[in-house]
Amino acid sequence: MQVLEDPYQFQAYCASLDASHALGFIPTMGAIHEGHLSLVRASRRQDEVTAVSIFVNPTQFGPSEDLANYPRHLEQDLALLEKEGVQVVFTPTPEGMYPNGVATFVDVADLGQRLCGASRPGHFRGVATVVFKLFQLAAPTRAYFGQKDAAQVAVVRRMIHDLFLPVELVVGPIVRERDGLALSSRNAYLSPAERHSARIISRALRIIGEAFDSGERSTPRLLMKGTEVIENEPGLRLDYLTAVDGDTLLPVAEAVPGTLIAVAALVGSTRLIDNARVDHDDLYLL
Ligand code: PAF
Repeated sequence: MQVLEDPYQFQAYCASLDASHALGFIPTMGAIHEGHLSLVRASRRQDEVTAVSIFVNPTQFGPSEDLANYPRHLEQDLALLEKEGVQVVFTPTPEGMYPNGVATFVDVADLGQRLCGASRPGHFRGVATVVFKLFQLAAPTRAYFGQKDAAQVAVVRRMIHDLFLPVELVVGPIVRERDGLALSSRNAYLSPAERHSARIISRALRIIGEAFDSGERSTPRLLMKGTEVIENEPGLRLDYLTAVDGDTLLPVAEAVPGTLIAVAALVGSTRLIDNARVDHDDLYLL
């Protein structure tokens, strides 16, 4: 497995691949877990070459967010990726990715302000910018993202469409712990008591799904059921619980099969997100 830190070397490596070979690319911020590995495996099944990037991207963190504390386990990550047969890992430094500071941004203006974008101003601008830059370096055939960050998926999908980027977006299902908690690198921040509270987040989604299955279609009433569950758990503070269209991220008044229920909650000082589509398989895995 090649590990390349220099953006130009990574770009040259990707450009040197046989043009008939599909390149699958999984951008990550490291702290690799089964969610990331499920994307790696999906690429290994489809693509001749699988590339992963590990970069804790400073431009997607707000000034009071967890950039400095974000878990970094490079050696462990590389060992996990090597075991999966990844051919190349790109591990740039912030100076390598932003050699002259940050002047050029990609901003999916409207989508970037919805869901987490509302409470994390500039977050999705940072995501779109770094993903665009990474795509410029890798020029992948396919790029793999996890459904756990549904807003990120919508932003990247829109950016690919608007900028005519020749890359196929593949979205992998959320991978969960046995009690339903969605895997996230930030779960490592949770104390045992917080971890216990965190399981309620996916339970709220399931209760909404069950109410939908019982015939409830009014989103205020559906969301009320989930809000009650979260507010009854003293360890959780709700940021948002909303029912939206998965592409536009705009709220819907009536839920239909496929409506996305998205949630963000604070567990202590850790912000966790999750989502599920009503009347969809992923809800029944909760
Ligand atoms: O989802 C993530 O880990 C990050 O937002 C991404 C896509 C790697 C961009 O920094």
